[in-house]
Amino acid sequence: MTRRDFINSTSASYASLLAWGMLQPAPATTLNLPANGRREDGKGRKVLVLGAGLAGMATAYELGKLGYDCTVLEARSRSGGRVWTIRGGTKETEIGESNGQTSSFEEGLYFNGGAARIPHHHQLTLHYCRELGVPLQMFNGNNEAGYLYNDGGTGDLANRRLRIKEYHNDMRGYTAELLAKALDQPGLDQQLTKEDIEKLVDFLKNEGDLNTAHLYKGTNRRGYKTKDHPGAGHKPGNMTDPFGLTDLLRSGFMQPVFYNVGDYIYEQQTTLLQPVGGMDAIPKALEKKLTGKIIFNATVSELRKTENGVRVVYQKDGKPVEVTGEFCVCTLPLPMLKNLESDLSGTVKRAADFVPYIKTGKIGLQFKRRFWEEDDWIYGGISRTNMDINQIWYPSYGFQGKKGVLIGYYNFYSRAEAVGAMSIAEREKMALAQGVKIHPQYPTEFENSFSLAWHRVPYSGGGWATYDDATRKKYYPSLIEADGNIYFAGEHTTYLTAWMAGAFTSAHRTVEAIHARVGEYTKK
Ligand code: ALA
Repeated sequence: MTRRDFINSTSASYASLLAWGMLQPAPATTLNLPANGRREDGKGRKVLVLGAGLAGMATAYELGKLGYDCTVLEARSRSGGRVWTIRGGTKETEIGESNGQTSSFEEGLYFNGGAARIPHHHQLTLHYCRELGVPLQMFNGNNEAGYLYNDGGTGDLANRRLRIKEYHNDMRGYTAELLAKALDQPGLDQQLTKEDIEKLVDFLKNEGDLNTAHLYKGTNRRGYKTKDHPGAGHKPGNMTDPFGLTDLLRSGFMQPVFYNVGDYIYEQQTTLLQPVGGMDAIPKALEKKLTGKIIFNATVSELRKTENGVRVVYQKDGKPVEVTGEFCVCTLPLPMLKNLESDLSGTVKRAADFVPYIKTGKIGLQFKRRFWEEDDWIYGGISRTNMDINQIWYPSYGFQGKKGVLIGYYNFYSRAEAVGAMSIAEREKMALAQGVKIHPQYPTEFENSFSLAWHRVPYSGGGWATYDDATRKKYYPSLIEADGNIYFAGEHTTYLTAWMAGAFTSAHRTVEAIHARVGEYTKK
């Protein structure tokens, strides 16, 4: 029996054939174009793409490869949307704010205001970096040298900073010890053999660094005492002392803000990557592939269905301009659809009204000295706190340089709302006042800042779409179907919301759908 005979004679699913190694999976990078369609079917067909973020630009780039004639309309004067790197000279005026901000970061210093990390399994994002020649470096999201700070709590471990490694290794030690003790209890031997139990205890011994009596008495995994690290001659090093179990349990570190997300969450496990020189290297590289196709400072005000396709009106230099096309790919964040005069279906309009977008904000703080590296030995990673600043991110670039920009807060929901409502000066004051509790060096080393609240940044409407089961069921289906000749793309049309990979995969899906439809027309 040949391989083909076998495949033809079984009712094996695609998935089981894949699992048996009888089919090669399609690379994440390949478009699924209709098998019977012709590549050239798209030639010359006009497509209007709304938004020059990653979804819009990747759509225009891929459609362009198939011969479509795309025009991308972008309200901002830059590409990238929520992929935005803040450097010296970056300007922004948030909605409801009068003065605007101009960043005075020193040359070479920056922070990624939006998208800031690429998980190793986001292969489509990594494919575009490869194809577009965007060099990558490691993004360190998970640093055990970072700090935890429980503000306002009671107990010995509140209102002081401690290293993540101290907390994690103590908790691993104590829980391993308790489990090892529990394994001695009668009853367990009914489910596990003596040998099983021995193996499990061995595992716990290593997991918690227990002593030969299976007790946790501290570990060098949590670090050494200051000035008492292992060295030459008679310097074996002196481990730090473990915290008490009850102190840890009463510390407040069981609050979700302190969870060990870097280890647990699929999207935040190592390895994470970032483009060298800022995340905007990705949109800039895409933009280069679309020379002459993007119209900037073009705010779309009207989206209409016509007999043969679509008609779009945008405002340019204070005047309306009308363009037509056969198809439209709308990548605008849903809150932006509310401002459009349109023929969009009722279900799409309701999705725009009711799919929530997260409130989220960041501040970049420039310091004249990288004290977190020099004094605290922190190279990249994140400190966590229950204060409004929520997280401090240390830069994963420019190690050992002179100055640095760290992210002084990255917050969500009500914290982001409260901080976003402050004036720019108040946000800076708050970030410094809370951050100094973790880093006493702040007041002497601080130079300048730039902050943003995505829900107040024009043309964004928030950080990303946040579906729950009900909104996913009610509104999502209308966004993944064409509304006449209008298609929707962007992270909000995927199960990869909040990620660049969502934007890219939505672009692929849309290109495939349009090209399949065109293939059907031309067959007739
Ligand atoms: N993807 C976003 C982040 O990495 C939510 O924080």
